[in-house]
Amino acid sequence: MASTNYNFLFFISTSILLVCCSPISFKPTQDDVGLANKKWTNVTIEQLNAGFKFYTAKCSGCHFLPVPNEYSEKRWLMILPEMSEKSKLSHEEYDLIQKYVITKSYAFTKKK
Ligand code: HEC
Repeated sequence: MASTNYNFLFFISTSILLVCCSPISFKPTQDDVGLANKKWTNVTIEQLNAGFKFYTAKCSGCHFLPVPNEYSEKRWLMILPEMSEKSKLSHEEYDLIQKYVITKSYAFTKKK
């Protein structure tokens, strides 16, 4: 059925557009700094921005960049050590990426 296929394609392209082109969900904000400091202390917007930069640079080579809030903090803590090995992250990169994704996982409610 051709119409079904078109719907499917529309769904896929819309999803890709939403993921690629929604700066709100990926870029750290001042609100995120507040969230981050509920868990850690003295986290700055610069640190979250650096985490975001490393995240996009190191985590999109093998698969699409995961949407941070697709996973809960608990899941990230299981996923990150494994992915860190794959990306050969330095200790600093690991720390910044972890702060970034866990903060972003708080910022939204959709979780699995
Ligand atoms: C060398 C390739 C490679 C790099 C670099 C890489 N990944 Fe992955 N990633 C994979 C593969 C392969 C899978 C699927 C199989 C698995 O879970 O091991 C995966 C799966 C995932 C998943 C889904 C896990 C799940 O259980 O659903 C997430 C989230 C993820 N990666 C995040 C990251 C993050 C964050 C980084 C950067 C720190 C990263 N990946 C870097 C190869 C990579």
